[in-house]
Amino acid sequence: MVRNGVTTSEALDGINAIPVMHRRGQLDTFGGQLVNFWLNQPDAQAVRNRLRITYKEILQEFCRLWESRQPGQRIRVLSLACGSAQATIEALSIFLAAYSEARGQVELHLVDLSGSSLMRATHLAQIRGVQSCVFIHIKDVKSFVREQPDSAWDIVEMVGFLDYRPWKSAENICREIRRIMLVNGLFISAHIGPSPWSFVVRWVTNWPLLIRRTVKEYRQILFGAGFTDREIEMRDEPHRIHPVGVCRKLVNF
Ligand SMILES: C[S@@+](CC[C@H](N)C(=O)[O-])C[C@H]1O[C@@H](n2cnc3c(N)ncnc32)[C@H](O)[C@@H]1O
Repeated sequence: MVRNGVTTSEALDGINAIPVMHRRGQLDTFGGQLVNFWLNQPDAQAVRNRLRITYKEILQEFCRLWESRQPGQRIRVLSLACGSAQATIEALSIFLAAYSEARGQVELHLVDLSGSSLMRATHLAQIRGVQSCVFIHIKDVKSFVREQPDSAWDIVEMVGFLDYRPWKSAENICREIRRIMLVNGLFISAHIGPSPWSFVVRWVTNWPLLIRRTVKEYRQILFGAGFTDREIEMRDEPHRIHPVGVCRKLVNF
């Protein structure tokens, strides 16, 4: 699944599922043990760490927004190139479990080009009982963002997308994202970095298309997009392969 699904969310879901499959004894065959071995190398662990960090940041922001909102104010969240949207849907479901009165006041919009990824997202939203808050858009990220008015979103999440974009294109999409964010809104993204374990990703999981950039280069992209130094924070995961950028827009310009 992971080898055949290069760049897809199905492949990422496979990598993310390894610890659960292992605990359930679903990797006890010889083949399963091989899969478990290779998908427990640092690059794959770092992908799962990135998911955990993204989930935590979004959940924390949901709670902060709810606690500080004006009466009647809705919370609007956008997940771009969302894949199966595990981080945003899991965060939304835990948030709504804690603040049930927020149901009806929160919108999660999911954007992806792939119908099958969005089907997986829809299925997850149904299982978690949050489908009434979730809106699906089968659309190219760039066109979707371009059509959005200024200052429209509280949270924008885009993970696993910059890794495939040339520098200028990455900068342009981040600039547009900054434009559509509300002041005080949060942009959560991630970028794969260099790793001595990259040969596993290239030759074992057979994933050749990734553009690895250092955390300094990732910062420069965000900076080039208009985020100031004060607005950019980096969350490092333990392997330092998948830093998560958390940018809070402090002013409109
Ligand atoms: C590597 S996956 C990341 C999925 C998800 N964000 C995550 O972290 O689990 C990349 C996703 O981007 C989507 N994608 C690629 N190019 C896109 C585009 N131009 N517009 C919208 N989605 C796109 C793919 O369909 C895929 O679901």
